[in-house]
This record gives sequence, structure tokens and C-alpha cells, in this order.
Amino acid sequence: MRPPVGSLLVRDIGLLVTNCPELGSGSLGVMRDVDLVVENGTVAWIGGARTSPAADEVLDAAGRCVVPGFVDSHTHLVFAGDRVEEFTARMAGKRYDAGGISATVAATRSAPSSVLMEMAARLKREAEAQGTTTLETKSGYGLTVSDESRCLEVAGTIAEEVTYLGAHVVAPEFRGREQEYVALVTGPMLEACAPKAQWCDVFCENGAFGPDAAREILQAGRAHGLGLRVHANQLSHGPGVQLAVEMGAASADHCSHLDGADVDALAGSDTVATLLPGAEFSTRSPYPDARRLLDSGAAVALATDCNPGTSYTTSMPFVIALSVREMHMTPDEALLAATAGGARALRRDDLGALAPGFRGDLVVLDAPSAAHLAYRPGVDLVAAVVRAGRLLGRGVTR
Ligand code: NIG
Ligand code: FE
Repeated sequence: MRPPVGSLLVRDIGLLVTNCPELGSGSLGVMRDVDLVVENGTVAWIGGARTSPAADEVLDAAGRCVVPGFVDSHTHLVFAGDRVEEFTARMAGKRYDAGGISATVAATRSAPSSVLMEMAARLKREAEAQGTTTLETKSGYGLTVSDESRCLEVAGTIAEEVTYLGAHVVAPEFRGREQEYVALVTGPMLEACAPKAQWCDVFCENGAFGPDAAREILQAGRAHGLGLRVHANQLSHGPGVQLAVEMGAASADHCSHLDGADVDALAGSDTVATLLPGAEFSTRSPYPDARRLLDSGAAVALATDCNPGTSYTTSMPFVIALSVREMHMTPDEALLAATAGGARALRRDDLGALAPGFRGDLVVLDAPSAAHLAYRPGVDLVAAVVRAGRLLGRGVTR
């Protein structure tokens, strides 16, 4: 194992996106021709090129653009199998209805933990190679006490933010006995899972959990010390967003079907609207109205929702490109939502910006500006990824 990096100098940054307007120009606080030093994992210094303090290692950005590492605040990376046939049928006209979740539940239950671990680790590496430096991931394809519990153990090995989603759907063997399943989710399953997670999530939707069951599950999660998140208003308009706001959830995720009252509720709250356009792309559904949310003043995050059913992508650059093209976000708004927005959705004040005191998480883009992430869709523009001052896989230090 390599010894921990003491300090890293990122030299010759042509354009640095800090996400701190007070440090540079525009809403992203852009600085030109600077160096940046990370010490013991934290940004310690930003200043004029070639005036930096000495560092143990040097990464040469060669005049490129550097942005904060992407914070993917919503993924489902612990599962077995895939659902490519379901996707193919959908592209031929079949509608998505969340029924396919049970196929992944069956595959996940019968997979050994070692297989779940390998698949999740592969997806994590895939995400990192595309600039993701912070991952949230969930259980939700086990739906028994032991399977949810082992899925969370796997999640904890690949993600720093872990979410208990025993309330993804009613487990197949409890069909028609929803109240009994809710008692399991809020009882023995929660007891086993709460120590392995920071967050509790519920899929509040027709075909999953109604508002009363969802409230009960969130209250139980909170009573066990978990922060709250809600899969809300994904497939149809419903009470999920209002419930998320009422419960003080950190995030209402999807927000694809909102009315004016939902938008107002989000704008007047600390609940972040996390948009997951990979799901609309892969289910060929209407995209969320990001403009209305942004214009109302609501906090917006972007995430991949990586899962085998609705959004089998780990690529934050792809999500940024979709958000700009399909949801009318500006490239600056999309980058902010994919970095600082994700950090806010996870209530992390040490992530999502590049300024002294923030964790040294950054991406060197093989491009002169961050707008190229949307301007050059599908092109790998990630030249180097650094988390906490340590280079992940790509780039050359000396
Ligand atoms: O976020 N909304 C619920 N969960 C996933 C879909 C899961 C699946 O189809 O396997 C989502 O889109
Ligand atoms: Fe999801």
C-alpha cells in the first residue's frame, strides 16, 4: 500500500471552478491560471501560478480546466444481474411500471455477497473514472432482514454515504399484506440495518408505498438516528415531495411530476430537489421541469440513479449533458448541481467546492472549460481524478 499523501500540488490550472463566488468570477467563482495545494486531504492553498508552497507530489494540469469532484448523491449499486431485456422491450414501446424491481430482488437474494461486492466495486471504479469522488448508495434489492443487511454491508465498502431502502417496494412474499411488510421494515429490518446506514429512504409512489406508510417508515428511520431521503413524484404526481418537505428530508429525489404547490414547498425548505434524468432517458419519459425549480429558488442536485432498471449509467458527465440539452439547465447550473448540489443533498459541508477547508476532490478535464461536458456529449473528457489529495487511477504525478 502507498503511504498516505501528505500534500499534492495541482500545477498550471488554466481555469479553476471553485463554486465559491467570492473567490473568482461568476456564480461558479472561476479563477484563471492558478495552482492549488491539497494538504492532508484538504484544500490548503490556491494562488497565482508558480507561487505555491512546496508539496510532496505534483500533478500537472497543463493549462486545463479543473472542477470539483462530482457528488453522485443517488445510486443503487448493490444488485445482481441486469434487466437488458426489460430495457429492450421498453425501447420497443413497453411502459416502465417498477414491476421489474422484483426480478432484481430475486437475482440479488440468490447472489453470494462476494458477487454483489465485485459488481458494486466495478460500478464504483466506473463512476470514479468519470469523475465521481463521492458516492451515495442504497440497499433495496434484498427486502428481507438478512438480505437488506448484507446489501448495506456491501454498500458500506464502496460508498461513503449509505442509505437503507427496505421500503423500495413491498417484498414479493408480502404482496397484499403491506402493513405487515411496513412492520418488518420499521421493526426488525430497521434494527438490523440502522447501524449500517446514515440515511433512510422510501419509494413513495402508486405501486410502492402510500403517504401514510411512507411517513411511518421515515419516522421510524429518524427515531433510529437516520437522516431522511424520499423517492418522490417519479412516475406520477403524488404526495412524496410534500411528505419529504414535511419531514425535513435532506432530499426529494426524481421530482418528475410536480405541481406549483410542490415547487413552492421545495423552494421554501431545506429539502434539495434531486433530479435523475438518466431515469427519464432510459424509460423514455418526460424530464423534470428543472427550469421551474431553479427559477423558484429551490436547491437542485443532479445524480445518476444508477440501477439496473431505470438508469444503468454511472456517468455524471452524461447526466450533466442530459440536463443541459433536455432540461434547459445552463452548463454552469448543471455543474453546480452535480457538485455542490449533491453535497447539499447529502448535507455535507466539506464537499462540492474547491476552496481552503474543503476536501481536495477534483477532476482535471481534458478541455478548456466545464461547458465542454455538455458541449461534447459521450466523449471522455476526464484526464485525472483526485480524492482527498490522492490521485485515483488516472493522471501522472511525480
Ligand atoms: O430510482 N424508484 C425506484 N427505484 C429505482 C428503480 C429501480 C428499478 O427499476 O430497479 C429508481 O428509478
Ligand atoms: Fe433511485
